[in-house]
Amino acid sequence: MGKKVTVVGAGFYGSTTALRLAEYDIFDTVVLTDIVEGKPEGIALDMNQSRPVEGFETKVVGVGGGSYEGTENSDIVVITAGLPRKPGMSRMDLIETNAKIVRSVSEQIAKTSPNAVVIVVSNPLDEMTTLTQLATGFPKNRVFGQAGMLDTARFTNFVAEELGVPVGSVKTLTLGSHGDTMVPVPSQCTVDGKPLTDLLPQEKIDELVERTRNGGAEIVALLKTGSAYYAPSAAAARMAKAVAEDSGVVMPVCAWIDGEHGISGVYLGVEAEIGAEGVKRIVETPLTDDERAALHTAAEAVKAKAADVASL
Ligand code: NAI
Ligand code: 2OP
Repeated sequence: MGKKVTVVGAGFYGSTTALRLAEYDIFDTVVLTDIVEGKPEGIALDMNQSRPVEGFETKVVGVGGGSYEGTENSDIVVITAGLPRKPGMSRMDLIETNAKIVRSVSEQIAKTSPNAVVIVVSNPLDEMTTLTQLATGFPKNRVFGQAGMLDTARFTNFVAEELGVPVGSVKTLTLGSHGDTMVPVPSQCTVDGKPLTDLLPQEKIDELVERTRNGGAEIVALLKTGSAYYAPSAAAARMAKAVAEDSGVVMPVCAWIDGEHGISGVYLGVEAEIGAEGVKRIVETPLTDDERAALHTAAEAVKAKAADVASL
């Protein structure tokens, strides 16, 4: 039987993710759910009507009203349910509201899709990933979060634009949290294999790093309502594809780390090999002393907040 993926939350992030997953044409079914009645059903109908034009066979099923009927035994679940930011808000301002939503979604998933790999995107990301693992009780490798793929893509885009080169020739990396303690890793960044540090002055790299760190807020300020979803959905969809295809692709994701980089007991942005069981292995990317120190600072910041989520 073909694979089933469920996307919880049929807002901007969830619906664009569902469409990307359907267009890959590697799943039997993409189920899109929401607490709102009618919205996921309508979106699914619309997406299915694009199948003859785009030439994909994956069926999209919409399930509204907070029901999980039809999601049973999903191979993969992507959690996008929760409020996005408004201008001036930090991701952390969403923690209490989104924790309630993510906890209830996680409890449902644990009942209906007990063997699923869960990809979390709801903000604040590192804390919601922690909460999802707690509330599902799933093994830690089967729950991971999306942030690094997006932040890295933003950094890559800024570097490519700055140098006037194709995005495909640029390789960048960000680790750490999806927030103030994001850790861009310039030492691992290259353009056509050449170190970024040889191509741009340090102050320009610092400027692009800062723009990357504020990448989400820059878009929120322009949109006025809601947050980014095209690049975020591309990131989450690629992670789900890596799980579905058991590809072993190495990606920056929010994963449980237990000793790697000298850090233990926290969900944090690191590079990891992704496959059918979720996170197969954390990759200990070589870091400079400064980058390693920044990763440790990020771990402490996430740990402090993550300790609170159990009670939310
Ligand atoms: P949105 O407001 O467009 O959609 C959220 C959807 O969740 C709504 O349709 C809402 O009805 C639904 N929802 C609320 N409670 C629910 C529940 N209990 N069960 C099912 N559905 C429920 O927001 P958008 O833009 O789709 O963003 C979703 C989340 O993703 C936000 O928390 C946002 O901050 C986060 N995000 C994370 C990123 C990342 O890199 N990790 C990037 C961009 C957004
Ligand atoms: C972003 O980075 C708001 O987390 C969201 O676009």
